[in-house]
Amino acid sequence: MDIIMLAGFILCCLVLAPSSIAHPIDPSLLARPVSARSTLASASSSENAPSAATLNVTDTFDLAALLEGNQKFRERNSGFAAALAKPPGVMFIGCSDNRLGPDAIFRTQPGSTISHHNLANQFTAKDPSADAAVAFAVNDLGVQHIIVLGHYGCKSVHMAMSTQPMDRIAQTWLQPVVDLFFRSKRDEIKKVWRLRRWHDTTGAEMADGDAFRALIEENVKATVRNIQNESVLSIAYNRRNKTNKLRVFVHGLVVNEESGEVKDLGVSFGPPGQTIPKLPFEVIVEPKHHNSFGKFKPKAKKLDPTSSFTAPAETSTSPSPVVETA
Ligand SMILES: *[C@@H]1O[C@H](CO)[C@@H](O)[C@H](O)[C@H]1NC(C)=O
Ligand SMILES: *[C@@H]1O[C@H](CO)[C@@H](O)[C@H](O)[C@H]1NC(C)=O
Ligand SMILES: *[C@@H]1O[C@H](CO)[C@@H](O)[C@H](O)[C@H]1NC(C)=O
Ligand SMILES: [Zn+2]
Repeated sequence: MDIIMLAGFILCCLVLAPSSIAHPIDPSLLARPVSARSTLASASSSENAPSAATLNVTDTFDLAALLEGNQKFRERNSGFAAALAKPPGVMFIGCSDNRLGPDAIFRTQPGSTISHHNLANQFTAKDPSADAAVAFAVNDLGVQHIIVLGHYGCKSVHMAMSTQPMDRIAQTWLQPVVDLFFRSKRDEIKKVWRLRRWHDTTGAEMADGDAFRALIEENVKATVRNIQNESVLSIAYNRRNKTNKLRVFVHGLVVNEESGEVKDLGVSFGPPGQTIPKLPFEVIVEPKHHNSFGKFKPKAKKLDPTSSFTAPAETSTSPSPVVETA
């Protein structure tokens, strides 16, 4: 009896230990000097994330330029009225701190796309704003594609992986990204927190740039996954749903702020049994040795105990479109 209890206790410890190691507030993980953050920030100019205290904000923004720009926009009137008459083809879910809008990055016809923005381009059904925006876009506006657009240099993601304290409200909002950082199986990310844990701050700083990019990518994938698992699409794309009329595809892309280059994260999904249209962007091929969310299989949202939701995303990890046999 005692031996069984002891074994149970040891098993308990083994099960609990990794989760406590990965807990975001494990103080040993946060034992990184304040200077480490500036080193991370200097990895690339676009990755530079000065705190508000160090920003030298001077009131030099030229408001008159807005009127001038608006006049030019109205004079040219380059077809946006026609674009507005059609359903928006694409909805972008982007990051509030990304200054490059989809119209600039993709030169899309003004009026042809819609957007939803929040810090670190997140989606969860617990966020009524994002949930309603997606439901409205899908059910009422007729979008064909939803593109989750991350950006290298994202200040929100940077804040989430930084050891600096942040505003409480930002902390709450960015907590899923913080959790992703500590839970990620990407080697680039694990390396950083392993080094931080060993107080190898120099090593951690050197690895931060790669981890930063990896976390930006994983965060986009998490958003795609949450849309698949929690949005109106998760109900519609249930394999047992014979009445599904929706034909919306969801994709994960990331843009490089410095070069403007866009890459495909290869996590697209669509209605079961439908060919996923191939995106024209280069697919990021992850190193083979790490086990990311690529093989992720979402669990069914508890809609109805008899339903079994099978992820169409299984096919989307392949760069080429795959037709599913339902
Ligand atoms: C802030 O910028 C202004 C204008 O460029 C400059 O005159 C001023 O010295 C700067 N202040 C600090 C604290 O850097
Ligand atoms: C099936 O999908 C449609 C959307 O096309 C949705 O309105 C409906 O509630 C779904 N039915 C079930 C049983 O999940
Ligand atoms: C999917 O969504 C449900 C509820 O919406 C949640 O409980 C579950 O953890 C999610 N699964 C994944 C893998 O994100
Ligand atoms: Zn951002």
